[in-house]
Amino acid sequence: MQNVLVTGGAGFIGSNFVRYLLGVEPDIRIINLDALTYSGSLENLKELPRSDRHIFVKGDICDPGLVAKLLQEYEIDTVVHFAAETHVDRSILDPGQFIQTNIVGTTTLLETVRRYWMNEPGMENAIKRFHHISTDEVFGSLAPDEPAWTEESPYDPHSPYAASKAASDHLVRAYGHTYGLPYTLTNCTNNYGPYQYPEKLIPLVILNALEGKPLPVYGDGRQIRDWLHVEDHCEAIYLVLKHGLAGGSYHIGGANQLTNIEIIEAICEILDERLPSSPHKPHRQLIQFVTDRPGHDRRYALDFHKIERDLDWKPRHTIRNGLRDTVDWYLAHPDWVAGILKKKEYQEWLGKNYTR
Ligand code: NAD
Ligand code: TYD
Repeated sequence: MQNVLVTGGAGFIGSNFVRYLLGVEPDIRIINLDALTYSGSLENLKELPRSDRHIFVKGDICDPGLVAKLLQEYEIDTVVHFAAETHVDRSILDPGQFIQTNIVGTTTLLETVRRYWMNEPGMENAIKRFHHISTDEVFGSLAPDEPAWTEESPYDPHSPYAASKAASDHLVRAYGHTYGLPYTLTNCTNNYGPYQYPEKLIPLVILNALEGKPLPVYGDGRQIRDWLHVEDHCEAIYLVLKHGLAGGSYHIGGANQLTNIEIIEAICEILDERLPSSPHKPHRQLIQFVTDRPGHDRRYALDFHKIERDLDWKPRHTIRNGLRDTVDWYLAHPDWVAGILKKKEYQEWLGKNYTR
């Protein structure tokens, strides 16, 4: 792993991964291809360790000419593919972009990488890896007492987002099976931590609470997610890149299954503690039950024994400490927060989604 193409590296998980990888592999070269859509920002890439080893390229994974040029120019041996449309609620309101980025974009990337790795003189014998980041949502929805999904569980996606990610996973595996593309694939649970765009539950609740705005709980708030700290996720991806078997899939979970209402109440308690003189205290008074998300999945959970056993990984963060650190990060980065709050796109999104 010398010249790594990271796609979507200006987004939440991608930017955390770029920072992580430059920390553990200071001599690596990272080419970060990101279209800077609403959720990507160069603000997420400030103060990188070894920033001289990081090259940012603004561009689209759906552009085969650009991808081919980057592969050649930088002699890419490893691709880590994060770029995607990622928010379920947006996929419900406007699925088209999810088909374009997640399915057409992933296919463009796969096809361009295949041609380069298989046709370029000198690349046939190089050690190469295409790593695809996927989600637990491709498996559907679990009842509260059902066992967590394993790597062998069948796909049953429910939302347009989940269906587009499932399609991209199938394409990655098809390229492995048909052309021998050396891929690995990870499915992970809900991530949280620094630099997450505040359309997702945890940062949305933190920022709304700071402004004294309602904390919207979809439906009865008893849906369950397993929460994975983004740093634990980055470490797991790194181990899969270093030691995972080509053609293999690995589940990555946080071992923190909580209902949405439990998460929101925990954030409120932390804010009460951190901001004792806030006029919005107790913050739980801001909780407001709103119309449910259409087709809302009840529970996601992954069985991640395989990565524990084969790669000796397990999550380090408990949800208590991880949430506290996350709230503290948002409190300590008012400029980052203000930059998003003042964006027209963000305010328009809130208006559109929460009046629905
Ligand atoms: P994000 O929305 O924060 O970031 C996505 C990034 O991709 C942005 O920087 C955006 O500009 C970029 N992008 C979008 N379309 C692009 C295109 N056509 N070309 C180039 N760049 C493009 O998302 P995230 O939460 O960091 O998610 C990253 C990956 O992890 C996604 O593949 C997502 O499906 C997966 N994932 C996320 C979670 C989670 O909880 N956040 C859970 C499971 C899986
Ligand atoms: P989200 O962060 O959008 O992730 P995902 O849908 O990929 O799991 O949502 C997490 C959970 O929180 C999900 O069950 C939907 C719920 N939710 C709310 O109750 N209110 C909100 O405003 C949002 C954004 C999510």
